Amino acid sequence: MPLTFTLDPAITPALRDGILDLWTDVSNAGGAVGFVAPVTREEIRPELVRHFVQMAEGRTRLLVGRDEAGEIAAAAFLTRNTHRLMTHWVWLYTVMVHPRHQGQGYGRDLLAAAADAARQMAGVEAIRLTCRGGLGLERFYASCGYKEVGRIPDAIRVAPGDDRDDVIMLLPLA
Ligand SMILES: CC(C)(COP(=O)(O)OP(=O)(O)OC[C@H]1O[C@@H](n2cnc3c(N)ncnc32)[C@H](O)[C@@H]1OP(=O)(O)O)[C@@H](O)C(=O)NCCC(=O)NCCS
Repeated sequence: MPLTFTLDPAITPALRDGILDLWTDVSNAGGAVGFVAPVTREEIRPELVRHFVQMAEGRTRLLVGRDEAGEIAAAAFLTRNTHRLMTHWVWLYTVMVHPRHQGQGYGRDLLAAAADAARQMAGVEAIRLTCRGGLGLERFYASCGYKEVGRIPDAIRVAPGDDRDDVIMLLPLA
């Protein structure tokens, strides 16, 4: 069953809890979405609140994918730049598919939905993102049409003695 994607879903307590659960489960399964396991919902909550503030300001848009039971199974955030000379591309953040749904093509569906969403945003010509090196994620993004355009060596300190590259990926929107 394909996921059902919604851009700009209504922000309800159920949606907030669904995103928090997703973000926590993905992080604790080793996902590279801003945290290092083990992490609790309460540690992630302030980060989600910051995203909600940016959404209220109109700077960030949330994309969610729901499974057939209506549960939040995937999510990502699209964020416009504040720099006045960089309004022609957007950032894609926190790309995540719930561990129980990974490996079934939903990640690629999520990125296709994100590209469709960005194409509908006036003046947006490309999507840029960064990912943590050492997890093979470049291959995932390449399978979605992104190209590696830069790499900052050892910019992400996952743990003492475990530094990872910060890999910059770009998708020009045709
Ligand atoms: C990365 C993620 C979004 C991919 O979603 P998914 O639903 O598992 O991926 P898909 O099933 O759509 O896979 C699409 C392709 O990417 C490949 N792929 C997926 N995850 C990969 C990974 N971690 N490393 C290498 N390749 C990967 C798949 O093998 C598949 O390639 P194929 O068509 O040649 O077989 C998901 O695994 C996830 O949420 N991971 C944890 C969070 C995370 O690290 N997000 C990245 C933030 S930068």
